[in-house]
Amino acid sequence: MGAMQPVVVQHPLAQCHLSAIRATDTPSHEFRKHLNLLARLIFSEASRELPLEEISVQTPLALTHGARLARPVIFVPILRAGLGLLDGILPLVPDATVAHIGIKRDEETALPHAYYANLPANLAAADVFLLDPMLATGGSASEAVRQLKEAGALRITMICVVSCPEGLAALERAHPDVPIVTAAIDAGLNEKCYIVPGLGDAGDRYFGT
Ligand code: PRP
Ligand code: URA
Repeated sequence: MGAMQPVVVQHPLAQCHLSAIRATDTPSHEFRKHLNLLARLIFSEASRELPLEEISVQTPLALTHGARLARPVIFVPILRAGLGLLDGILPLVPDATVAHIGIKRDEETALPHAYYANLPANLAAADVFLLDPMLATGGSASEAVRQLKEAGALRITMICVVSCPEGLAALERAHPDVPIVTAAIDAGLNEKCYIVPGLGDAGDRYFGT
């Protein structure tokens, strides 16, 4: 199966929030606000195809047709920085389940080290959204998708903010069935495997560490 093209969110407001989080002089409290709002815009695009089922709704005046999501939604932030996307998105699907995967890149090798997972039993029945602002080498996302598939997930969408050709190619190679939605495809990686121009260390900037 050929890999799908990544979806790049073109909304003008997304580009404004992205510019704010890229700026090196944006303090943590502003970085949080803009990342949360940007995540919401990206998720709006990523959730466009979620199937609905019809329900009846009694308004104060009449009975009418309504809709609800046909399947459960599970959000899976990759710790830590994925929590910055979750904070923005969760209010849109307040009854979603939140699972967690902990992965930390080795500072020397940039290889992913998985240190935590808490995954629910109903992954196969759900629409699963994997959340991480940065898709750099693609190692962390590929490992997270591997864990999710091993635990039964069938429909996984990767949501990131800043990606680059190396990370997109790696994730697409490892998991061609996983759609990727991003706000930007940057030029590439530097010698330390940071995305350039990027926004720096997303976790450190979100948490102020
Ligand atoms: C960052 C980022 C991704 C990963 C991306 O996390 O949030 O998880 O690096 O890099 P990759 O595509 O090359 O794997 P980091 O490992 O710094 O952990 P943190 O969020 O706890 O700071
Ligand atoms: N992780 C980050 O937080 N930023 C990068 O540019 C690459 C990996």
